[in-house]
Amino acid sequence: MKDIKEKMNSRFSSLKGGLFETVTKADVGEGVGKLIEQGVDIMAWADPFFPDPSIPDSVKKVMVEALEDGFPSHYSMPIGKFELREAISRKIQRTTGLQLDPSRNIIVTPGSDSGLLYAMMPFISPGDEVLVPDPSYPSNFLNPKLLGGVTVPVPLHSEDKWQLSIEELEKRVSDKTKMLVLCHPNNPTTTVFRKDVLEKVAKFVIKHDLVLVCDQAFEDHIYDGIEFIAPATIEGMWERTVTVCSISKGLGLSGFRIGYIYADEKIMDVLYGGAVNVLGASATVTSIGAIKALDDESILKDINLRLERRRNLVHEVFKDNQSIRIQKSESGFLTWIDVSRLGTSSEVVAHILEHAKILVNEGTPYGKQGEGYIRIVTGCFADDERAREACERINEALKALAKKKGV
Ligand SMILES: Cc1ncc(COP(=O)(O)O)c(C=O)c1O
Repeated sequence: MKDIKEKMNSRFSSLKGGLFETVTKADVGEGVGKLIEQGVDIMAWADPFFPDPSIPDSVKKVMVEALEDGFPSHYSMPIGKFELREAISRKIQRTTGLQLDPSRNIIVTPGSDSGLLYAMMPFISPGDEVLVPDPSYPSNFLNPKLLGGVTVPVPLHSEDKWQLSIEELEKRVSDKTKMLVLCHPNNPTTTVFRKDVLEKVAKFVIKHDLVLVCDQAFEDHIYDGIEFIAPATIEGMWERTVTVCSISKGLGLSGFRIGYIYADEKIMDVLYGGAVNVLGASATVTSIGAIKALDDESILKDINLRLERRRNLVHEVFKDNQSIRIQKSESGFLTWIDVSRLGTSSEVVAHILEHAKILVNEGTPYGKQGEGYIRIVTGCFADDERAREACERINEALKALAKKKGV
């Protein structure tokens, strides 16, 4: 055989999973594991409180009880445990006002990563174009390509506070455009797209008869009273929007691998139809934990308090560093910093790794607009002081780099 890759389709044959790469792709491969062994702190995984334990006691209790009963050795329904879909439906009603039928509008997914790809699968045929704001979560650029589609990045600009511009969308729409993928709030910029922007986006989507996939993995933590609007609730959008959410992310339970999709029943009927083949099913024991985590509203309240305090603390550490530009994060547990005066993203990340012994993310995997930026997962570590100390180390490394470069 000449090369097994010649037998692969072109969507997959160009993929590189990090087998031979170490640092730049922080999410995959053994690179991160090796760095941890060397004592490097990892602030590059969007995993709140990593690496400290973060399962609330009440959640742990129901899971331990379930394990003692022995039931979790069995499958959950491939579309998700009914009681979990009920708990999800209650949460969606609390946060958006939408009243959804757990048996017709909701499917549980093993994390929202698989949900994001599955949400696109029914719609994307080879050659279809998908508009993806840039910067955005890297999977949102890759998913259309995995399905034979074409990803069309739509630049976001720091001068617009990273809000989406309809002019930029209009410049890139074509008769092949099938879909827009919105990451809302946006990873990595933390931007919450504002009501007026979303209303314009909805008009654009309807005018061009597109489908919207909305990645709402970061919807649970929004600061400063900023209003969060789920695009599915905007007039005319429900029937053309597939909303993808993450229970793991919002509740600090990333390892549980639980997310969900909600959509109109016509779309959901199709997603239910392919559930066994594409998703298999989510783990039973973590589904049981997720029900408790959703229903005990004090858990999210507590996480929100901790993450907002963390966001403020991190901003305090970096705000006086004149060689970088930093905006206070609007949501979540990420910090997005303009380091362009100090070098390329990759130079700055390598410098921080060498001098602070901390791995942060380069901006470029998040799109071309990410060049000159770094992303730090500042929601790492349970303890605020530990997080402050890590951020101070990064800040010192940045200041030393600025001095070296004469900035
Ligand atoms: C924006 C966004 N969406 C979705 C995901 C997937 O999260 P999970 O599969 O843990 O739900 C991530 C993970 O980092 C993310 O950042």
